[in-house]
Amino acid sequence: MAAPIFPYAEVPAAMTVLDHIRAHSDWDEAAARFAGRFEPDLRLDIKVPAEAIRREVARAYRDLGWHRWRSTPGGSYSGLAITHNPERGAAERGNGLLGHERYRDCDTQDYFAVDRQMDTQYRVRGDYLDTLGFRRLNDFSAYPALAHLLRGFGRPISRSRIASLFGVSETSRPDVGWHLDEAPTTLLRLNICIEADSDYALEYREGPAIQLAPGDALVINTDVEHRVTVRHPSISTRTHLVIGVLPWLDYDADRDAWSFNDCYGRIHPYDMVREGLIHAAV
Ligand SMILES: [Fe+2]
Repeated sequence: MAAPIFPYAEVPAAMTVLDHIRAHSDWDEAAARFAGRFEPDLRLDIKVPAEAIRREVARAYRDLGWHRWRSTPGGSYSGLAITHNPERGAAERGNGLLGHERYRDCDTQDYFAVDRQMDTQYRVRGDYLDTLGFRRLNDFSAYPALAHLLRGFGRPISRSRIASLFGVSETSRPDVGWHLDEAPTTLLRLNICIEADSDYALEYREGPAIQLAPGDALVINTDVEHRVTVRHPSISTRTHLVIGVLPWLDYDADRDAWSFNDCYGRIHPYDMVREGLIHAAV
């Protein structure tokens, strides 16, 4: 039997790309077999030229736009999309992954209470929640260190952004900000720290608080509750590359289509990190 292929053009308008693939494969069984791992200290073994990228990000914000987070009022969370969904138009190339205006009426606590994985009315093709739809890299050719780092990924890059927390931030309350994102079998999340200090940490509800330093490339266990915290009132800036890669799918840009790779249903994405299958160390 020919290997299945999933062109974007065949995704029904009422489904996300992932839900379409799930509906036509044994994806859920495969993902369930690999659920439940918690490895908060797993890192990508790469050299990140954080200082060079820090300067390039400043230029990219200036050249391509520096966008505030659209989901919640206030401007301290901001950044620039790394990928985009062409269906959403040129106006959303830079800010399409910086939240969504429809969540703007929620206060911070309510915003994090929305389980966006389950927000079914918006689990449709081309929406903000259609993770695999954000399948095209923005053009970072004018930023060589960043472009080189992105080229090193051996897997397709999806839903990714550069994110900066800056300005006067209040200390995080203990109960606010906890949330879940995609399972690592869907989207493997790497946080690459460009700048940060001890004012900030990544926390797991049932695990450690982790302070990242420039150059760190940490795997985030996005299927368990986590959050970013401001530990002290801060005037410093925290800038990360928030990279999501598809561990189990290939993406053919010419055909605008996905297919299963050899790792699908066979290797946990965290083991792919260890085996060097996620990034060619640069
Ligand atoms: Fe998250």
